[in-house]
Amino acid sequence: MSLKARIRAIKAKARPVNRRDLLVGALNLVWTIPTALGLGGLLKFLRFEPPTTQATRFNLGSPLTFPPLPVYIEDAQIWLHRDADGYYAVDAICTHLGCTVYLQPDKTYYCRCHGSRFEADGDVIQGPATQPLHFLLLAWESGKLVVDRSQEVDSTFRLPASA
Ligand code: FES
Repeated sequence: MSLKARIRAIKAKARPVNRRDLLVGALNLVWTIPTALGLGGLLKFLRFEPPTTQATRFNLGSPLTFPPLPVYIEDAQIWLHRDADGYYAVDAICTHLGCTVYLQPDKTYYCRCHGSRFEADGDVIQGPATQPLHFLLLAWESGKLVVDRSQEVDSTFRLPASA
């Protein structure tokens, strides 16, 4: 059968679109779009990969240039604090699946991804996280504050304020 003959045969079988066809098509869209969006969200959740921080050492600069503490430092993914004993850095990466934790007015940390909460000293208040937040090593280098993400320290660690 030639191509023209095939096209003619297909056109002959085709029937005009009626209101019932349009209604069925519209109903199919009504459930197809939300289903596709839901599946897309599920796939995104299942393929979630925590953000990776390539570098481990970050020069945070001179304390003279810091905004009022505590402050979130995005490059280093830390919360930088200072108390009467000195500076300390809390890892802002949630120990559940790696989202960023946010400091709350009551000095606890909250993860928006799945609702984990952490004490000011990093201990878990509420899961799904089961591991405490990490505290990271701070040091002075030529008057600049440096954080080393590869070096965990105890939550009582403080770097004296004077360089
Ligand atoms: S990544 Fe923080 S609670 Fe899941």
